[in-house]
Amino acid sequence: MAVERTLSIIKPDATARNITGKINAVFEASGLRIVAQRRIHLSKRMAGQFYAVHAERSFFDELTDYMSSAPVVVQVLEGENAVTRNREVMGATNPANAEAGTIRALYGQNVQENSVHGSDSPENAAIEIAFFFAQTDIVG
Ligand code: CMP
Repeated sequence: MAVERTLSIIKPDATARNITGKINAVFEASGLRIVAQRRIHLSKRMAGQFYAVHAERSFFDELTDYMSSAPVVVQVLEGENAVTRNREVMGATNPANAEAGTIRALYGQNVQENSVHGSDSPENAAIEIAFFFAQTDIVG
């Protein structure tokens, strides 16, 4: 299996509840390593650039308001099949549909305030990692 990297964001609902450590513990217990991490407050403009692929969605304005409402923790996770592994660990987008034990089942509040974001493919992971991190920020 290939060692990959994926981009993760711990979202405002989770930073507001001071549970970033609990979420990181789930990543680490699942075999993912946090090889870069930074806490930042996104502007609405930067949130819009990051989620540009959703620009035409009805929830885009609400999503970018939410993602710029409080700090987030952006991170690079590394491990075997990290993109897929992280999506398993996160659970379904809507916490109501997420499998027991996943981060969104444990901590997500609703489809928007779902505690974490993770890249959906290795190609998008490379783009999303470069959006937030220089190569020198990532220490495996
Ligand atoms: P994420 O995995 O970060 O990718 C896009 C985000 O948009 C998603 O998680 C949710 O936070 C949000 N989202 C997806 N669907 C909806 C929806 N129907 N209503 C509001 N927000 C949504």
